[in-house]
Amino acid sequence: MFVSDALKINDRRHLEIGGCDCTDLVKEYGTPIYVMDEGLIRKNCRLYKNSMDRYYKGNGLVLFASKAFCTMAMCRIAQQEGLGLDVVSGGELYTALKAGFPMDKVYFHGNNKTAEEIELAIDSNIRRIVVDNKWELQLVNDIASKKGKKAKISFRIKPGIDAHTHDFVQTGQIDSKFGVALENGEALDIVREAISLENVKVEGVHCHIGSQIFDLAPFELAATVMLNFIAEVKEKLGLEIEELNLGGGFGIKYVPEHDPIEYDKYIESVSKVVAGVCIEKKIKQPFVVMEPGRSIVASSGITLYTVGAVKDIKNVRKYVSVDGGMADNPRYALYQSQYDAVLANRPDALKNEMVTIAGKCCESGDLLIKDIMMPEIKPGDILAVLATGAYNYSMSSNYNRIPRPPVVMVRDGKARLIVRREDFHDIIRNDIIPEDL
Ligand code: LLP
Repeated sequence: MFVSDALKINDRRHLEIGGCDCTDLVKEYGTPIYVMDEGLIRKNCRLYKNSMDRYYKGNGLVLFASKAFCTMAMCRIAQQEGLGLDVVSGGELYTALKAGFPMDKVYFHGNNKTAEEIELAIDSNIRRIVVDNKWELQLVNDIASKKGKKAKISFRIKPGIDAHTHDFVQTGQIDSKFGVALENGEALDIVREAISLENVKVEGVHCHIGSQIFDLAPFELAATVMLNFIAEVKEKLGLEIEELNLGGGFGIKYVPEHDPIEYDKYIESVSKVVAGVCIEKKIKQPFVVMEPGRSIVASSGITLYTVGAVKDIKNVRKYVSVDGGMADNPRYALYQSQYDAVLANRPDALKNEMVTIAGKCCESGDLLIKDIMMPEIKPGDILAVLATGAYNYSMSSNYNRIPRPPVVMVRDGKARLIVRREDFHDIIRNDIIPEDL
């Protein structure tokens, strides 16, 4: 009935998540709130881990792409479920460090890591720095050299696959800020240069072909292209690359029309391609890494809002405004992303009118959902926007000086705060009025 398995309607005819009645959560924590179902997050972690273990026979690792939902509690869950972590900034790395995450399972991505970030990564003995470009390669080598260390690196490669068009294409997509290209020889070049450096050790190659992808074929093609490159490196440079990181990108169901493939299917089919190409190219099967972010947390989350003004512009549009918006979920404003929603206080009411859900920010583009069928909504209703567990909290802002909502984690009828609500004090905490002003 709902786009997410996390939800049901309880005996009080209210929306329930993780055994908690959403109207009770609102009474306790107010609105807006992000609610995350811990059980479903753990289930998704296990699905990935079990499939990886099965199809790669232990010769693989699942990383949680923490950019989707980076909090200390989430790092702890990923750790407990045996996952590694993908971080893309000093802040994400620091979060993992403070959560006590094992650094030998952390991969550091990004197209412009600062010297300070690289230093923190090397000092923390993380498992892999995923080097993006030649300038960064030199920087990593220099910093490692000063510390008398050898940094374990891999390279971000552009496999030239655009998975976002409906019929995905292998275009030779050089025009991306991420990584080094295959077709102009840049990728081979950077590996050659790295081999000549004292303080880096080349362990792997990495690619990431996009996000919210529903097809299998682009992932299979990416694996093939990357293995061909590993074979080319072996042949031309005599180096056997031991690790292949295939990134994340698996799609999830935001609206009923979305039809994602089971993760197990992705992993099974890609593992077959990997095994086949390795035999064909006569290369040792590399250790395979995957980095799902969205598909681990998105469906586990909902955001609860209180409805305020309802504005019916006759023959034009009916706007339902809530007490949050683009500051807690900028994805419609940025990408025109689609979401589904229900009324948490009467989730089974007949959906009989078309409305647009608007936020409270001072900006016309501040919408959450454009044109959705809903029951007649009144001020005071509790609106649940579904599948907001990925790239909502992590992309939230204080635009219009709106304090960020808290994150509440629910499991077996118990709710705990994992991120507290910001208040006005947080809003001004870094402000300074200079004495001479
Ligand atoms: N690995 C790398 C190197 C990535 O760049 C990403 C996402 C992932 C893994 C995880 O991809 P996922 O499994 O979550 O699709 N803010 C956008 C999504 C940006 C994704 C960036 N990279 C959104 O809200 O849709």
